[in-house]
Amino acid sequence: MTENNNLSLIVAVADNWAIGKDNNLLWHISDDLKRFKALTTGHCIIMGRKTYESFPKRPLPNRRNIVITHGDGSGLEGCEVVHSVQEALEQCESDEQPFIIGGATVYRQFLPFVARIYLTKVFATFDADTFFPPIDTEEFREVSASEIFTDEKSGLRYQYMEYERV
Ligand SMILES: NC(=O)c1ccc[n+]([C@@H]2O[C@H](COP(=O)([O-])OP(=O)(O)OC[C@H]3O[C@@H](n4cnc5c(N)ncnc54)[C@H](OP(=O)(O)O)[C@@H]3O)[C@@H](O)[C@H]2O)c1
Repeated sequence: MTENNNLSLIVAVADNWAIGKDNNLLWHISDDLKRFKALTTGHCIIMGRKTYESFPKRPLPNRRNIVITHGDGSGLEGCEVVHSVQEALEQCESDEQPFIIGGATVYRQFLPFVARIYLTKVFATFDADTFFPPIDTEEFREVSASEIFTDEKSGLRYQYMEYERV
């Protein structure tokens, strides 16, 4: 299996590990979206077909959008289509920090290859149909935790966490 020593994963999760419902995000936190953009710009972003289709505007600009699907890619304009985890990893071998950006099926399959996790913790519980797998603390250790911020518009409290593979 191809390895990238700096393969990173970025996700925003609720207290109950919820990440989405009806192929949409569960909240809008402007600062978190800005941080996502700042971290991922210039890099490969690997995502599932459903996450790609959930973007109101696609592809996400100034990033190589790599989309995994069993299909032939018809209707997936503006991205690089791949058909397996291995193919996705090979596509970004030359990138010094590729990002796994979801959704749940993709997070689960790529976690074994991930070196670093950027996780935004949203301090609330949401009704959801898509969940992130709880982080195994024997596999990943916390290396940083920001202060707790409050989103002015939604009132949601959130915190930026970083984990590295042990
Ligand atoms: N909170 C967050 O940080 C965050 C981030 C990203 C997404 N989300 C949310 O997560 C939800 C979407 O996640 P999801 O798990 O339903 O879908 P997903 O992982 O985005 O996409 C699933 C699709 O990816 C393709 N796929 C996955 N593994 C594959 C493999 N090994 N080989 C070939 N194709 C593969 C399949 O596409 P085909 O059906 O075309 O074969 C599958 O149906 C949405 O609600 C979204 O808003 C949240």
